[in-house]
Amino acid sequence: MDRIRIIGGNPLNGTIPISGAKNAALPLMIAGLLTPETLILDNVPRLADVAQLQRILGNHGVDITAVGKRVGDGKYQGQTLQISAADIIDTTAPYELVSRMRASFWVIAPLLARMHAAKVSLPGGCAIGTRPVDLLIMALEKLGAEIAIDGGYVVAKAHGGLRGGHIDFPKVTVGGTHVALMAATLAKGTTLITNAACEPEVSDLAECLIKMGARITGAGTARIEVEGIDRLHGARHTVLPDRIEAGTYAIATAMTGGDVQLEGARAELLQSALDVLKEAGAEISVNADGIRVRRNGNGIRPVQVATAPFPGFPTDLQAQLMALMVRAQGSSAITETIFENRFMHVQELARFGARISLDGETARIEGISTLRGAPVMATDLRASVSLVIAGLAAEGETMVNRVYHLDRGFERLEEKLKACGAAIERISD
Ligand code: EPZ
Repeated sequence: MDRIRIIGGNPLNGTIPISGAKNAALPLMIAGLLTPETLILDNVPRLADVAQLQRILGNHGVDITAVGKRVGDGKYQGQTLQISAADIIDTTAPYELVSRMRASFWVIAPLLARMHAAKVSLPGGCAIGTRPVDLLIMALEKLGAEIAIDGGYVVAKAHGGLRGGHIDFPKVTVGGTHVALMAATLAKGTTLITNAACEPEVSDLAECLIKMGARITGAGTARIEVEGIDRLHGARHTVLPDRIEAGTYAIATAMTGGDVQLEGARAELLQSALDVLKEAGAEISVNADGIRVRRNGNGIRPVQVATAPFPGFPTDLQAQLMALMVRAQGSSAITETIFENRFMHVQELARFGARISLDGETARIEGISTLRGAPVMATDLRASVSLVIAGLAAEGETMVNRVYHLDRGFERLEEKLKACGAAIERISD
């Protein structure tokens, strides 16, 4: 299994191109199931999760073609996928496939909307909390689906098709909002979604669905209205840039010092994180090509942050911010409000010498001036990258094991960092 070796201490200087967003690409690919015509997606990142979803969609009978490289394409140009679900031959998503990636459960919505039936394995337990799907099931029931759990599968039926209804989420859920949106596009009548997630990935999905003919208003706010239609058609859509990847490299630059241009990043997608980084002492400027992050000379200041749904500070940057705070000049506090158990990086950061104590959902971090490299391993994607950030600033060698987590969500991480001066390499055994 691959490992990543880092010799810490080099500042980051240069340009990092930001890829298409994993968490937008996945629901967009799933939306391809809603139409028998071809959906073309540009700027799809080359990631293990995207490849896994291709396999899952293939199992339903979807043809997916990746368009080859074209003259003038940049080194990091995202791929173009042509997704064609002309005939859905199987409405079952089996355990072996779904258990490996939670987002694949969302296929239940387009299958039910278009085929009026779906049988999808419950997703497996996940390293960042229990992550149930009760709210996704509630949303589909509000649209008239009959749902039973049988042998670990969610068996859903909608005789005569889904009907519009009012879905009021008791808690903000990104996946729940994706599912409600997709299902409502082909339901009879109007659907109102309240307390909807406002994440940019939800807006991106809605934008693509609208290009496919869906009638949606209010996406990006907590109140979304969908007027169902009989049939969606093909469309072409570009996946929005990955705000979490951009935020991760911004934090890495604040950690090591240096001057990095995040090419293609959009500040309005990660304003709360940029504000926190400014407070921590980074200089942030927005320009025509993206976001420039600098930290020269001044130390890292401690911050108090709580994660929150968009536009709040994203839970997907919590581990990375914690790595930064390990080096802050003073004590900081980070509260995780979205997932109940997203602190697995704490014990691994301790291997660098970090002083972190947990008090319920709050981590208190006493900054230290010098981190020392160590062999480390993490059990989820964002936790893994927080260890890379720590390694970049630590004295000596850090070996990050179980790199497959990183490959699920960061495209060519070591290449992008190396191009900015990091001493980082992948070791394949
Ligand atoms: C999405 O997960 C993202 N995944 C996550 O990114 C992200 O951390 C999360 O949203 C929050 O922003 C993708 O987009 C593929 P939720 P999702 O439903 O949709 C609870 C990453 O690293 N809940 O918004 O699964 C849930 O347990 C990943 O890229 C229920 O209680 O998250 C959590 O506490 C990790 N019942 C909260 O809601 C439900 O039925 C928010 O979860 C559904 C969710």
